[in-house]
Amino acid sequence: MNIKTIEITTSFLKEKGFVNPEIGIVLGTGLGQLVNHLTIECEINYADIPNFPLSTVEFHSGKLLFGTLEGKKVILMQGRFHLYEGYSLQEITFPIRILSALGIKKLLISNAAGAINLNYKKGDLMLLDDHINLQGGSPLAFANVSDFGERFTDMCAPYDEDMNTKITAIAKQNAIVLRKGVYAAVVGPQLETRAEYRYLKIIGADAVGMSTVPEVIVANHLQLPVLAVSVLTDECNPDDLKPVNIPEIIAIAGEAEPKMITLFKALIKNI
Ligand code: HPA
Repeated sequence: MNIKTIEITTSFLKEKGFVNPEIGIVLGTGLGQLVNHLTIECEINYADIPNFPLSTVEFHSGKLLFGTLEGKKVILMQGRFHLYEGYSLQEITFPIRILSALGIKKLLISNAAGAINLNYKKGDLMLLDDHINLQGGSPLAFANVSDFGERFTDMCAPYDEDMNTKITAIAKQNAIVLRKGVYAAVVGPQLETRAEYRYLKIIGADAVGMSTVPEVIVANHLQLPVLAVSVLTDECNPDDLKPVNIPEIIAIAGEAEPKMITLFKALIKNI
């Protein structure tokens, strides 16, 4: 990672029209349709952005979009990079550094996760109020990290309290159930064993997924307020575990999407 690389990508995107964004949004599973609510000013494929990680098959449609949403200038990341695709933690989080260099003041993230807390049900949304990094590495573990921010980044409050308070109130006003909890990030792509689900429960996780934590660590490194919401797509009960059903996971994320869009739009309006 070097500052020159960040400058090259940032000035390229500014020339393409990505100027003065206020909010960055990572569209994970369950928020893809938010793009239909954006008045698009410009868009570019990840493959055409210098220094962006090279797309894998899954990210044919990986795109950066810029425009207006609820009166705010936003950048949407349509498609994110996962550790399980073979990227490094620095590559996964490079786009977050770029959004910050372009000027975003807040970062919003969505993802799909499995429910470890069995009081939470599939289809529920869960606001992250803390996390456990089980990915075996840090996106901040590189030689010149202090050129970009504090090496020993504080993580005592990784998720922005102000945005969390606001989205909790918005959920209440709209009668949307918004759980709150601890998200554990694993590498994947394999799902967990029964013993791993038991372990995750014991260590205090409410949900488990394969993304988000690297982006949140880098947001904290950049002192960028961040909020993240999971769609809980399956219930991870080690005493009654069924084989994973990916089409069902995708269907449940799709069903929960209107709730997620309502929350994110109202939040964007109010921050
Ligand atoms: N484990 C990990 N990631 C997931 C899961 C899960 O059970 N469900 C959705 N994403």
